Amino acid sequence: MIDPFGRRISYLRVSVTDRCDLRCVYCMAEDMTFLPKREVLTLEELDRLCGAFIGLGVEKIRLTGGEPLVRKNVLSLFRSLGARLGGGGLRELTVTTNGTQLGEMAEGLHAAGVRRINVSLDTLDPGVFRAVTRWGALEKVLDGVFAAKAAGLAVKINAVALKGVNEGEYDRMLAWCGEHGFDLCLIETMPMGDITGDRTDQYLPLSLVRSRLREHWTLEESDYRTGGPARYFTVRETGGRIGFITPMTHNFCESCNRVRLTCTGTLYMCLGQEDAADFRALLRDPSVDEAGLRAAIEAAIARKPKGHDFIIDRRHNRPSVGRHMSVTGG
Ligand code: GTP
Ligand code: 5AD
Ligand code: SF4
Repeated sequence: MIDPFGRRISYLRVSVTDRCDLRCVYCMAEDMTFLPKREVLTLEELDRLCGAFIGLGVEKIRLTGGEPLVRKNVLSLFRSLGARLGGGGLRELTVTTNGTQLGEMAEGLHAAGVRRINVSLDTLDPGVFRAVTRWGALEKVLDGVFAAKAAGLAVKINAVALKGVNEGEYDRMLAWCGEHGFDLCLIETMPMGDITGDRTDQYLPLSLVRSRLREHWTLEESDYRTGGPARYFTVRETGGRIGFITPMTHNFCESCNRVRLTCTGTLYMCLGQEDAADFRALLRDPSVDEAGLRAAIEAAIARKPKGHDFIIDRRHNRPSVGRHMSVTGG
């Protein structure tokens, strides 16, 4: 699938639930109303739609949320998608998780064919963790991360850079990740969902973070690529890797290869735009066959915009995209 700007679309991010057991301040409001079950695609509907995308050239699928691992029976979806790895056309099946369920699920993920996972973890300080997630227990996530490692999963730690919140922790996180063999990825906070004065003030450009890190670490540009937006450096002192995701200071839209499906079957062609296509009605219409689904996917890809234009309207504290990050899971 090639979009109107010549970009090959090979990466599908699938949000399997809008629910989460945490409420990270930059992702959800504290008081969320979650969707009724009938509005959410069944695991069978999700598998069928993913199959249509794979048939059209998608090679990488990442399950996201909300928190994907709180969806009931989600391992059965991992297993059915995992059966499409290799000869089935899929090259990578992976997940972005907050880590709270990994203690119980890491082995099941590995058995389904997952080899690499991303864990959202902004801090190694239990008090700061509680403040960012509004009530999360750091210990549970750390147990989950080590269960993943023990199950043979490669781990990337995702940390959203937040001024005055985790700003002083990146050296420690880099050392900790190096010690345990995890990649670390720092992310610029994007203005989505409820933007309060706090959120506006917490934005921290990663160019600044990187030059601060260079006071203590030797960062060497790396050509390591995952198909995601991060640009990686190897850290000479640890032998590990650090990635930077910079939607605000360095737009990477020209190399975008992905689209996002929500748990209600809405396909967003860009994280930073509102345009979307509905697939739920098609999936539930018995007269629509696989060819019909494929044609609808191709028509949606033909609408993919050139890129986001995230801005923060500082005067009104208004984001360019009002939907919460949790609708598409990043
Ligand atoms: P890898 O496969 O490890 O490269 O993962 P990934 O970076 O594709 O996925 P992950 O879920 O770890 O996302 C990390 C961050 O990158 C999240 O904050 C996402 O919102 C952000 N991100 C991923 N893709 C895009 C994109 O196309 N545009 C923007 N603006 N942000 C993105
Ligand atoms: N800006 C940047 N990253 C975000 N994430 C969630 N909300 C935001 C935001 N507003 C990150 C999470 C997770 C990934 C899927 O998206 O930390 O690692
Ligand atoms: Fe939940 Fe992840 Fe959003 Fe935090 S970032 S509220 S853990 S979905």
